[in-house]
Amino acid sequence: MSSNNESIGKTLGVVVGLCLVCAIVVSIASVQLRPMQQASKAKDIQSNILTVAGFKDVKDVFATFEANVESKVINLETGEFVDIDANSFDFEKTKFDQKRSVKLAKAEDKAGVQRMTNNSPVYFTRDAQGQLETIILPIQGYGLWGIMYGFLALEADGETIKSINFYKHNETPGLGGEIQNPRWNALWNGKSLPIDVVKGGANGEHKVDGLSGATLTSNGVDNTVDFWTSDKAFGPFLAKVRKGALN
Ligand SMILES: Cc1cc2nc3c(=O)[nH]c(=O)nc-3n(C[C@H](O)[C@H](O)[C@H](O)COP(=O)(O)O)c2cc1C
Repeated sequence: MSSNNESIGKTLGVVVGLCLVCAIVVSIASVQLRPMQQASKAKDIQSNILTVAGFKDVKDVFATFEANVESKVINLETGEFVDIDANSFDFEKTKFDQKRSVKLAKAEDKAGVQRMTNNSPVYFTRDAQGQLETIILPIQGYGLWGIMYGFLALEADGETIKSINFYKHNETPGLGGEIQNPRWNALWNGKSLPIDVVKGGANGEHKVDGLSGATLTSNGVDNTVDFWTSDKAFGPFLAKVRKGALN
């Protein structure tokens, strides 16, 4: 004979009660941890910007970023600065906001981003004399398995490449994942826009070797850089930089 404690009502009561308690604990933890998650995401982005700009062995990411990197938001169509805080600019949210982005036609969507924001953050570093040193552009585009997120750093001439760095992607480790390998990233140093990622034997300032065994990812990087340096993205801004507008 079952005791009263084993009745269906009591068992269900305990299950529902436990679920409620767990749901409350998880919700509170999620809300409480959100600022920490956001801070850690911001630190990660800052750390990647510092890396692509050439800072090495950074101990205090936040302080180094604050002291050395200027963050601005530009209107991509005009290339002009707009009065928006770059640190709170969320590209992904903006991308899906119909008022602040446009849908790209397939033929013009070389990087596979689908939608394009009207504005974008850009970052700069200056030398001790205040002269423009590095321009850092956030870029993103489809590789083999998904969107690859990265930064392209250019010299003050707006043409010479300093470095490229991908910090988030779904490419296969050891194959496409080598887009994160500092040795491959270093091949970009001193090359010049426009650039082609080619399969082996790249020579000349406008060509860089693709990753062996990862031609599809390499093609994705090629398309991504082409797209973001084109008139659909940072082209108008880079035209201003090349005329010395930021010096
Ligand atoms: C499990 C698996 C994962 C792969 N991951 C990638 C990848 O991340 N990027 C890529 O370009 N190719 C990847 N490939 C290889 C592609 O299918 C293709 O063979 C390759 O891009 C061709 O490059 P290659 O011409 O340099 O050999 C993968 C293949 C397999 C079987």
